[in-house]
Parts: sequence; C-alpha cells; structure tokens
Amino acid sequence: MATIGNDILKAAELLQKGEVVAIPTETVYGLAANALNENAVLKIFEVKQRPHYNPLIIHIGNKNQLELYTQNIPNIAYKLIDAFWPGPLTLLLPKKSIISDLVTAGFPDVAVRMPNHKVTLELLSNLDFPLAAPSANPFGYISPTTSQHVQNQIGEKIEYILDGGACQKGVESTIVGFENNRVVLYRLGAITIEELENIAGKILLANKETHTPKTSGMLPYHYAPLTPFILCENILLEIEKHSGKKIGVISFSKIEKNENISEIVILSAEGKLEEAAKNLYSALHLLDSKKLDVIIAQKFEEKGLGKTLNDRLIKASKR
Ligand code: TXA
Ligand code: MG
Repeated sequence: MATIGNDILKAAELLQKGEVVAIPTETVYGLAANALNENAVLKIFEVKQRPHYNPLIIHIGNKNQLELYTQNIPNIAYKLIDAFWPGPLTLLLPKKSIISDLVTAGFPDVAVRMPNHKVTLELLSNLDFPLAAPSANPFGYISPTTSQHVQNQIGEKIEYILDGGACQKGVESTIVGFENNRVVLYRLGAITIEELENIAGKILLANKETHTPKTSGMLPYHYAPLTPFILCENILLEIEKHSGKKIGVISFSKIEKNENISEIVILSAEGKLEEAAKNLYSALHLLDSKKLDVIIAQKFEEKGLGKTLNDRLIKASKR
C-alpha cells in the first residue's frame, strides 16, 4: 500500500529521483512523473496500464513556463490562459523538442495545463521540470477524486499519494486545441462550452471524422464502473423495469424513497450542477463497491456542466 500524506518535500524528492507520485488537482487526482525524464514517464504508462498511443497532459506551476515547452502559440490561447489559468483548461499546442514523443504519443502537439490546487502548485514551485500526469486510475476505469480512491485503485503499485482533500471540481479538465486562431473542443470538462465561448467566441467541436488526434475522451467507453451501468431518461421508470434486482441509484437531486432501491446517492440535494460534478465519481466508486446488480442514473439537461456530466455518464454506460 502507498503512504498517504501531505509532505510536499517528500513528494518532490521522489519525483526528482524519477519516481511516480499521485497528486491532487482541482479536477481529479493525477499520477505524476517528471515530464522531461522518459524513464519516469514510462512508469506512468506501466502503473496505469495505459496504451502508449495515448498521450499525457503536462502540468506547469507558472503561466510563463508555457513557452519553455510549446511554440507558435496563437493569441486566442493567451486570452484563454488569462481567463482560466490556473484552472481546469488544457491546451493542445505545438511542442518544443524538449518534450519527448513518449509524452505526446508521437503527436506534434503537447497538452498543457496549470492546475488550480494549492498543494500541487507548491509542489511544482519546488521542481525544475513539469509534471506529466494522467488521471490516477487504471486505464478505462473511474477517475479518482480522493486520495482513498487512488489508494484503492493503484495503491499497491506506488509509494506515495500526496493528499489534497477531495477534488473541488470532480471532473477532468476541458481540452481545447486551435485551428486558424479558432478554438476546437476535444474533451468536455469542468469548464463549459458557454464559458469558453464568452471568452473566445464560437468554438468548433472536434469529431472523429474531422480530427485525428483522438483523446481518450473521444473513445466510446471510458470512466466506467465494473457494475452494469444504465443511463436513462426517466429514473423512476427505469427502476421499475429492474425491480427484483439489487439496484443502486445515482440521483441528481432528491427523489422519493422506493422499496426497489438498495443504495442511493444524491449528488446535490439542492440540484446544483457544480456540487453534482464534485460528487459524481465518488458516487460511482461507492456504488461500484456495493456488489449491486445494476447502477442507474438519469441524464442531465444538456447544457452547461450538464453536457460534461452526460458525456462521462454515457461513456460509463458503454463498457
Ligand atoms: O483534469 C485533468 O485533465 C486530469 C488532471 C490530472 O490534470 N488529467 C487527465 O489526464 O484527465 P488523462 O490522461 O486521464 O486525460 C488526458 C486526455 C487523454 O484523453 C489524452 O488522450 C488527451 O488528454 N491528450 C493528451 N495529450 C494529447 C495530445 N498531445 N493530443 C491529443 N490529445 C491529448
Ligand atoms: Mg483519464
């Protein structure tokens, strides 16, 4: 088992030695290593059982470091950085040669973000390299939003988990690239399309036909629990259909009690999307550990963060 603690200097020491360390961010926990050390980066792929064709995000502690690792940065990127960094926005930009093809899986662009978490920003300020970090879950499984989730999933394979409490956003960063100074959305995330468009004007949506760099956010299944998971339009009807089974329910807000339900998690008693996002993966982790026959959730309204949550739930239902 890994040690869970808040010793930033210990984490820094391990990273300097080329080891992997789990780190908190405002979105989800990451599995971090020195992005400039190929052997360290290889350890991430190994622990996560992640295929090498799937590139990694690098995390920087200061906006000025962006130009050390990327080039030909369009003006619109700077506008987004001013609006959203530090924060849950990842930019795809042409890499400089200091970033290895291992990190980008051979793509010419590298994904970069400056996370908004006190502990990890302090950690980064102690390091003279950026941290490559995918979400700290085994490939294809639900992302961790607490240090205990990380411990349960990969604790046997790593030495140290830097604890930063429960992640405030609870869903991964939004990923964008650029085409002719226009913003292209590759992965829905904690920053909504509406928020991006307020800063950058109309954005383009990447799709499989027109955009080759496939983020795993574009794979059909991902973020999935092991228990069969159903995403439906009407939760009470769906529960009715499965009566007799051990049913777990993830409900956005309060619903009436029902003798068919074995376990229920209410994401936000007051029906707030931000709170629901923060609690969603925890709910999936919890219900997935309860040996249920099925987990049922209802789609969110398709706007704002609801779009991001639906994206994750659709993928969770496609294992
Ligand atoms: O919120 C987040 O983004 C979290 C925290 C830890 O920062 N990280 C995260 O990383 O979600 P990961 O590896 O689980 O998801 C990153 C996504 C993957 O779908 C990957 O394919 C895509 O980013 N990606 C990374 N580099 C890319 C590149 N150069 N081109 C296209 N897609 C890229
Ligand atoms: Mg991930």
